Amino acid sequence: MTIKMTGVWKTFGEGHTAVHALQNIDLANPQGEFTTILGPSGSGKTTLLNLVGAIDDATEGHIEVAGVDLAGLSVDELVKYRRENVGFVFQFFNLIPTLTALENVELVADLTASNGAERAAEVLDRVGLGDRMTHFPAQLSGGEQQRVAIARALVKEPPILLCDEPTGELDFETGRMVLDLLQRVSRELSQTVLLVTHNAAIGDMADRVLKLRSGEIVEDVHNDTPIDATELTW
Ligand SMILES: Nc1ncnc2c1ncn2[C@@H]1O[C@H](COP(=O)(O)OP(=O)(O)OP(=O)(O)O)[C@@H](O)[C@H]1O
Ligand SMILES: [Mg+2]
Repeated sequence: MTIKMTGVWKTFGEGHTAVHALQNIDLANPQGEFTTILGPSGSGKTTLLNLVGAIDDATEGHIEVAGVDLAGLSVDELVKYRRENVGFVFQFFNLIPTLTALENVELVADLTASNGAERAAEVLDRVGLGDRMTHFPAQLSGGEQQRVAIARALVKEPPILLCDEPTGELDFETGRMVLDLLQRVSRELSQTVLLVTHNAAIGDMADRVLKLRSGEIVEDVHNDTPIDATELTW
């Protein structure tokens, strides 16, 4: 799906304590584009993802996804939008500790598929965790937990994938494996991906690299020859 932001502002608070987390953002992402977003802490990266994912709303401006203005959707329509179109992957995995890997994925699969359990098992198999499905998060390594989180985001095959520092907690090898997985699946499904990272090297695998500073886009570079994630090094 295409994402188009025009004149988007996000302001937290009011008056002299107001924080302008995003300032007049204009941005268009075609379907299937893999974009990394870099920028210092507090520059507005997570805020941007939250607006696209309709977890939060813009203070001003328009966000259109596949030509539909999110501001015009009712609460029910927003729930449907998030459920059907958006997959989130977070830095701290956000798995439910009392549920097994399979149950964590099934929770989301059940929302969109009648055969949720079957779909959940399929996707876990695909991320290489076919033999870990009955493990609880605490019994999995960091990379395995992140792969469960990715399976959870992918089980509904969302056209938009939002990843907030998905490799922040992982060592080099594991991080690269997770990026490879994201790259392969997003290409297969032609997903529009926004991936936030502090690691500039990851930009080499992306079609586009955005840099934010103080809520503004200060750099926007297209990359015609993204490398395979397996070739990344840092
Ligand atoms: N709910 C909130 N209430 C008030 N201020 C907020 C809120 N969320 C974010 N902010 C502020 O908005 C700005 C942008 O925050 P954001 O979380 O988007 O930054 P970030 O680029 O993701 O940073 P990091 O790399 O540390 O995750 C920061 O100044 C932050 O303090
Ligand atoms: Mg953040």
